[in-house]
Amino acid sequence: MTSPAPAEPSEGFAGRVVVVTGGSRGLGRAMALGYAARGATVVVASRKLAACEAVAQEAAAAGAAKALPLACHVGRWQDCDQLVRRVLEECGRIDVLVNNAGMSPLYPSFADVDEALFDKVLEVNLKGAWRLSVLAGDRMKQAGGGTILNISSIAAVQPTARELPYAVAKAGLNTLTVGLAHALGPEVRVNAIMPGAFQTDATAGWPEAAVAELSGTQVPLRRLGKAGEIVAAALHLTGESSTYTTGAILKIDGGLAWAPA
Ligand SMILES: NC(=O)c1ccc[n+]([C@@H]2O[C@H](COP(=O)([O-])OP(=O)(O)OC[C@H]3O[C@@H](n4cnc5c(N)ncnc54)[C@H](OP(=O)(O)O)[C@@H]3O)[C@@H](O)[C@H]2O)c1
Repeated sequence: MTSPAPAEPSEGFAGRVVVVTGGSRGLGRAMALGYAARGATVVVASRKLAACEAVAQEAAAAGAAKALPLACHVGRWQDCDQLVRRVLEECGRIDVLVNNAGMSPLYPSFADVDEALFDKVLEVNLKGAWRLSVLAGDRMKQAGGGTILNISSIAAVQPTARELPYAVAKAGLNTLTVGLAHALGPEVRVNAIMPGAFQTDATAGWPEAAVAELSGTQVPLRRLGKAGEIVAAALHLTGESSTYTTGAILKIDGGLAWAPA
């Protein structure tokens, strides 16, 4: 008996406009290049324009229909408004929004978490995603379709003392994902990915012993993830192979978390 033909392996994004926040490095850069390779118009947004320009060049070389670098501090409401305005001016539409920008500063103890740090963590990981999703989601709904992907964290369901404000923000992002899926359907789908520990700048500062313990004993796959290992899931959740999936929260963590997603 012959096996059925394998499903088309790659999602096509030709004609789609994809905005990736935090697209200049790490997971965001990997996803931006993944969309570029599938023919999307890719908007690379982060605080540092030069870094976005460099990734936009890579995206163009990878096959993007167009690659647009834009500076945006997602923790600032007016920057979010400006980002959406510029994308609509330059590209005419938004089909996919990936709320990936995030940060998790280390702190010695809870007492060292001052108001500025707490506010910044909430602003970058949660408030920006709220504002961008509301603006882009409204536009997608009017246009008759679109998808939003929030990059959360396994910390949302398995919080540790070393990153508690961040875990709180990412738990909020999970709640936002489900709430927006209900609010923006049926035209717009909203999903999230909870990465475990990936090798990026965000984890480069972790103590060696902590990384060794994590990958040596806690992660069933016995290593940290590589940025490229998030791309297929992002394409799936924002593309045509997941048309009955919304409000879903997928963990990609090498098996780290015990808690169900
Ligand atoms: N790596 C992990 O192990 C891991 C685990 C769980 C979840 N995550 C989540 O995955 C996402 C990406 O993480 P990553 O590891 O790729 O991080 P990363 O390598 O540190 O990159 C962070 C990206 O976000 C941008 N960014 C930071 N603050 C920003 C702001 N205020 N406004 C706009 N852009 C901002 C950075 O660019 P600029 O500096 O130019 O702004 C950069 O492009 C984050 O949401 C993170 O919480 C990562």
